[in-house]
Amino acid sequence: MDTIIIFDFGSQTAQLIGRRIRELGVFSAIVPGDSRIADLDLTDAKGIVFSGSPSSVYGEGSPHPDPAVYDTGLPILGICYGFHHMTQDFGGAVEPHETKEYGRSALRFLKPDPLFRDVPDGFISWMSHGDSVSRLASGFEMVAVSGRHPAAAVWSERRFYGIQFHPEVTHCEFGSTILENFAVAVCGAAKSWSMDLYLDQAVERIRERAGDRDVLLLISGGVDSTVVAGLLLEALDPARVHLMYIDTGLMRKRESAEVAVNLERLGARNLYLIDAEEEFLEALAGIEDPERKRSIIGDLFMSVQTREVEARGVGGALLAQGTLYTDMIESGKGVGKKAHVIKSHHNVRSPLVEAKREAGEIIEPLDCLYKDEVRELGRKLGIDERIVGRHPFPGPGLAVRILGDVTKEKCGILRDADAIYLEELRERGLYDEIWQAFCVLLPIRSVGVAGDSREYGYVLALRAIISRDGMTADVYPFEPKDLLEISSRITNEVSQVGRVVYDVSSKPPATIEWE
Ligand code: XMP
Repeated sequence: MDTIIIFDFGSQTAQLIGRRIRELGVFSAIVPGDSRIADLDLTDAKGIVFSGSPSSVYGEGSPHPDPAVYDTGLPILGICYGFHHMTQDFGGAVEPHETKEYGRSALRFLKPDPLFRDVPDGFISWMSHGDSVSRLASGFEMVAVSGRHPAAAVWSERRFYGIQFHPEVTHCEFGSTILENFAVAVCGAAKSWSMDLYLDQAVERIRERAGDRDVLLLISGGVDSTVVAGLLLEALDPARVHLMYIDTGLMRKRESAEVAVNLERLGARNLYLIDAEEEFLEALAGIEDPERKRSIIGDLFMSVQTREVEARGVGGALLAQGTLYTDMIESGKGVGKKAHVIKSHHNVRSPLVEAKREAGEIIEPLDCLYKDEVRELGRKLGIDERIVGRHPFPGPGLAVRILGDVTKEKCGILRDADAIYLEELRERGLYDEIWQAFCVLLPIRSVGVAGDSREYGYVLALRAIISRDGMTADVYPFEPKDLLEISSRITNEVSQVGRVVYDVSSKPPATIEWE
């Protein structure tokens, strides 16, 4: 399939470039910016994009593309740092400026160019840079200029383009048009990427890979593992698909039951629902330190998993995993590495998973997909919208949302309050606008009045954030009316909660979870 290869120099937006290009229907793949050309399979490559970077081209330790990239004959679009590097590589000059240019900037064209087909003169681009090209490299010609730092877009006959702005960012007008012009008009890539095609290919690959073996999948209840389950059940005889779900007792209200119903609806036959609530609560009793909680839950999860896999006699099966594309990529500054850190313990660290990985016994049918593509695939597989659109939920579950020690009673209170909160968000049509929303039970009691008496109830914090990937987050700006009504419903219906507060901290400096 025709592919545009993105060289990731550690930019926050490298992933976004990849996604935008796929949204156009052209397949894209991301590789580390310093990859050796000889190590890459460029058979299907039609063009290359150099991403931006937090580094400066003349800075120490900044990432460099293999010079052989310029001899591949492929068109290259250098964005920001990529533009600077290309300029330096061909003898031009890049200079720092005193203040970073950040924000909107109008572009004026000096000549027509296929890269800007259907883009009007004076369109508003999006800038974010501390360096600029002060002298063009040999063979390059200026195509467009902008205000403070004129070199906004350049071109060379070898079909190398440099642009100072970021077309991948939504604030950039005509950004998708420019990326499409590059991929389709300049590189000649066919728009052959679609989710229907991916579905057919994924089913075919699973069949080939599994042969006549059984496949085991550990279900977390989230989007990714449910979509993998859907794919396995579509591709293989359900009798050969083994699905295991461990209920830690730290899940949301009705979650475990919903998981079971959904998997059965997808045709699951071998569904192992392990009720391990008591084991988990016992292991967590009296533990207040969040990291201790996490490690206790992680360790216990693994031992329950190993024990149950053994007990069901499915240890010899291939292991399917819901690893996503973002988890696979290791890049300069490590978009992928960071994603690994926040990934649920269901997918990493476990000895079972490690052993299977070492033996090459793993199937990862989502490893080319971004999260929103997984959701789209889930919809194609007929998975319930409530699962497909579900907010992320941390592996340690409610344990990290009950500050201080975890008890069955507190889990119950938090579960009830959280269910009301999420139900209200859905009913108010806000759930899909919010990236993640949940309640946190605080380890303090505060005074309140109930009838004639004073009562000490729990304090509950509401959290709702908007984010692209969980790395940074903004507070969701509720209408006051919504917050007041939700708070009042919670205190009315969950008698142990006496007071509700709203967390108005963004990330950074706060994290999304409280522990
Ligand atoms: P923070 O709190 O680090 O959260 O800003 C970023 C994202 O990661 C999730 N998160 C976790 N997920 N195990 C997980 O599987 C964890 O221990 C964990 N801690 C945080 C969090 O819900 C948010 O989506």
